[in-house]
Amino acid sequence: MNQKIKVALAGVHRASAFLRAFQLHPQTEIVALCDLNPSALAETGKLIGVSQLYTHYEKMLDDVKPDVVVVATPMQFHAAQSIAALQRNIHVLCEVTAAVGLDEARWLVQACQQSSAIYMMAENCNYSRQNMLLNALVDAGLFGDVYYAEGEYLHNVQTLHHTPDGKPTWRYYWQVGVNGATYATHSLGPCLQWVKERITQISCIGTGRWSDPEHTIEDTVQLSCKTASGKLIRHRLDMLSKRPHPFTVYYALQGTKGAYESARRRDEDHWVWLEDRCPDPNQWVRLETFADEFLPEVWRNPPPEVHKIGHSGSEYFLVLDFIDAVQGKKSPAVGIHETMDMTLPGLVSQESIRRGGVWLDVPDSRDW
Ligand SMILES: NC(=O)c1ccc[n+]([C@@H]2O[C@H](COP(=O)([O-])OP(=O)(O)OC[C@H]3O[C@@H](n4cnc5c(N)ncnc54)[C@H](O)[C@@H]3O)[C@@H](O)[C@H]2O)c1
Repeated sequence: MNQKIKVALAGVHRASAFLRAFQLHPQTEIVALCDLNPSALAETGKLIGVSQLYTHYEKMLDDVKPDVVVVATPMQFHAAQSIAALQRNIHVLCEVTAAVGLDEARWLVQACQQSSAIYMMAENCNYSRQNMLLNALVDAGLFGDVYYAEGEYLHNVQTLHHTPDGKPTWRYYWQVGVNGATYATHSLGPCLQWVKERITQISCIGTGRWSDPEHTIEDTVQLSCKTASGKLIRHRLDMLSKRPHPFTVYYALQGTKGAYESARRRDEDHWVWLEDRCPDPNQWVRLETFADEFLPEVWRNPPPEVHKIGHSGSEYFLVLDFIDAVQGKKSPAVGIHETMDMTLPGLVSQESIRRGGVWLDVPDSRDW
């Protein structure tokens, strides 16, 4: 009988979004958990019946020797913890973003080059039902050449910037304590799948600080990205301005034969217009119209429980893809270079915004 893939998870709050996906997978078994908070650790361990509980990450790796580790700790630990696992040839599924600085991004790429294990970043927005359906339409050529895409992450998370007793959290420092596109991958991930080219240059500007002068990041930050052939991606990030939570990331794309605009708020529709499929040139059509023909197979008849898993099931499909890659059935969908394609523009943006929006080159991790 084949042995199950042993999975360890670090950072139990966000890792909880993946627990059920690994439990549902017939070839994986959760064997250990790590968190600095002993009570959160004990609670999650009890909930899922896992008794190997650690407050020290490297000790967990060395004692348990898992096949896979899910790094779902705060952003500033992602690169170091991913590298520690890769050095032990343990496969890594890492939460967004991959790194908080260019140096550690380079060290992470080097660790991947030297490891026999695989690395995948858990960019769940690439796995949402609507984005996977849209990818299928793009891949079928129904938008023609996609030359423009945009993604907006507008989520006021001020309540998460301090603990109940007033201490700054990691988000205070790493998400809004740095100026620039500090949380860009949810927007850039899907957009890059549509334009199908690496971002080579970026410019980043902001609005200034209006809602809360305490934070280093400007209230709204806009990242403009050019690809090698001159295509444009626009990303807007706002984690501070007062507005209701949209419960979605807004996307749009434009191609030579079609256009797309996603829902602005939860439960709204996503709209497309496709020259070859929509007879009325002035009538948008619901994206869902094309689901029968184009929805990827995995999304057609998933286990009913999937919709209760993180982000309407995205994490389930992400885990399926990751385990396929661990088993050598395919390359990781968001492997180290795709991860860097989504991450490096945001890191370079910090220098651009500091210098008034100057256009800067984005390194290609494939050259590192
Ligand atoms: N993809 C998504 O949709 C999505 C959503 C939320 C959060 N995230 C990402 O998940 C990560 C965690 O976010 P969160 O909201 O769960 O944060 P959180 O602050 O709520 O929880 C972090 C947990 O990690 C633990 N922790 C902190 N440092 C640790 C360490 N060195 N070793 C082990 N455990 C440690 C903390 O005790 C805490 O339980 C972040 O990187 C964030 O960007 C992604």
